[in-house]
Amino acid sequence: MNDFVIETKQLTKVYGEQTAVNSVNLHVKKGRIYGLLGRNGAGKTTIMKMILGLTPITSGEVNVFGQSIKGREKRVYPRIGAIIETPGFYPNLTGTENLEIFAKLRGTAAPHAVETALKVVGLPYKDKKLFSKYSLGMKQRLGIANAILHDPEMLILDEPTNGLDPIGIAEVRDFIKNLSATQGKTILISSHILSEISLLADDIGIIDHGILLEESSMSELEKKNRKYVLLQVSDIPKALLILERQFHLKDYSVQDDHTLRLYDTALDMGEINKALVTQNITVMSSGLCNDTLEDYFKKITGGEGIA
Ligand SMILES: Nc1ncnc2c1ncn2[C@@H]1O[C@H](COP(=O)(O)OP(=O)(O)O)[C@@H](O)[C@H]1O
Ligand SMILES: [Mg+2]
Repeated sequence: MNDFVIETKQLTKVYGEQTAVNSVNLHVKKGRIYGLLGRNGAGKTTIMKMILGLTPITSGEVNVFGQSIKGREKRVYPRIGAIIETPGFYPNLTGTENLEIFAKLRGTAAPHAVETALKVVGLPYKDKKLFSKYSLGMKQRLGIANAILHDPEMLILDEPTNGLDPIGIAEVRDFIKNLSATQGKTILISSHILSEISLLADDIGIIDHGILLEESSMSELEKKNRKYVLLQVSDIPKALLILERQFHLKDYSVQDDHTLRLYDTALDMGEINKALVTQNITVMSSGLCNDTLEDYFKKITGGEGIA
């Protein structure tokens, strides 16, 4: 038994000639926010639909709460809240009335479920406004309120900030973070916007053309992409000795036989160069590098990046 709330094994979806999802091994840990990042058409929605049983799996497996989903659908799905496509809300009813219908349909027992869910997403409970008069932001919020109505342990949110303005995006991000921080919910969220995922997710999966290219924690990814001084020298062991003794360098990595990465970017490179040359170490080059997450994403997807 492991701590994965969702684990997929070689999950694959083929539509006709096209492999939309290709052998994906996804690992969503309990209590974490997992951001699935990929361009439009990458396969994000299809993965979520397979997890939720909304589209048949071509091959592979989905494990939820530590067990295969097969045969346990009825028991498992009530523990998950999801928005994949805009739910069919009734335009001529208010938000509250809409949620009350969904609560009844789902047999939600909690007496204040609708009021609580609306509060979480910042929508008024006693409001006469009809759904047809809602802004896009309010509609998205109502969709999320509907997903959390039955207080599920896990949420699957497919691009919940799609079409929102920057303020709306920030607000949705805040309450998603809040759901994770205060209620310990596990959240799988997708987006095609790197900045959005990087501000929200604890863990990230990068998907491109149906293939999960990378899966790591956000902090690991940030570490990989922090600023550093790239230093190329003729003799690494000798250079390190000087750097450690004379400059008290601790935070570095060896990239190859002649290249070092120094992560302490406040170092006085002039002094370092001088000290190395004095000890007969040739400095081939030294310079500040700043690979951003965006550069990284471009590199691994081999494309032009995303917004
Ligand atoms: N019902 C379908 N029939 C055929 N192809 C589909 C269907 N749904 C999605 N696809 C294709 O599968 C690929 C992945 O789509 P999707 O999962 O929606 O990507 P994303 O959510 O990352 O934008 C796309 O190329 C899309 O055209
Ligand atoms: Mg999609």
